Amino acid sequence: MNNLLDIIKQRRSIRSFKDTPILKEVIDKLADALIWAPSAGNLQSRKFYFVTDKKVKEQLVEAALGQSFIADAPLVVVGCADLGRVKGRYENRGTTLYAPQDVAASVQNLLLVAHEQGLGTVWVGAFDEDAVSQVMKLPDTLRPVTIVPVGYPAKTPKAPPRLSKEEVITSI
Ligand SMILES: Cc1cc2nc3c(=O)[nH]c(=O)nc-3n(C[C@H](O)[C@H](O)[C@H](O)COP(=O)(O)O)c2cc1C
Repeated sequence: MNNLLDIIKQRRSIRSFKDTPILKEVIDKLADALIWAPSAGNLQSRKFYFVTDKKVKEQLVEAALGQSFIADAPLVVVGCADLGRVKGRYENRGTTLYAPQDVAASVQNLLLVAHEQGLGTVWVGAFDEDAVSQVMKLPDTLRPVTIVPVGYPAKTPKAPPRLSKEEVITSI
């Protein structure tokens, strides 16, 4: 697996993790993947929390409507839009669109590099924002956008089907 398109196609959402720890060097690669994503005006309006504390992970499970696999992952990344960084330059479009997109671009990088490193991830978007903000003690300027459990896969599901290229792409 060395071709980027293969990595993109073979990545799956993993919801079952081994408790094998992740080496510091590998975690550092994930951090690189996050910071090297593009961002609006290069403002990098995003913040990430790397959670390993068991109690905090369990609180995140509750905030994420009981998605218990979150607590099984050795590392849980919480991605937040940094509204404070973007507001001054881009106002409403910055806070509602650019900052969440900055986070999304970073997180997609993270999913791909994690997969390349043999790790599994899943992008969790279904959660109570206020509850996550409370668990993470976030300031008002940070909006939680995604929770990503990261760990070595215990089970890898089959690829869910995709719409065809013709359905998704219109050439004009
Ligand atoms: C914005 C977004 C939110 C998602 N939220 C959840 C979630 O809350 N829980 C979950 O188990 N998977 C979640 N997923 C993962 C999708 O279910 C998954 O990506 C999709 O079924 C395709 O499967 P694949 O990632 O294996 O290709 C989310 C994905 C995205 C992009």
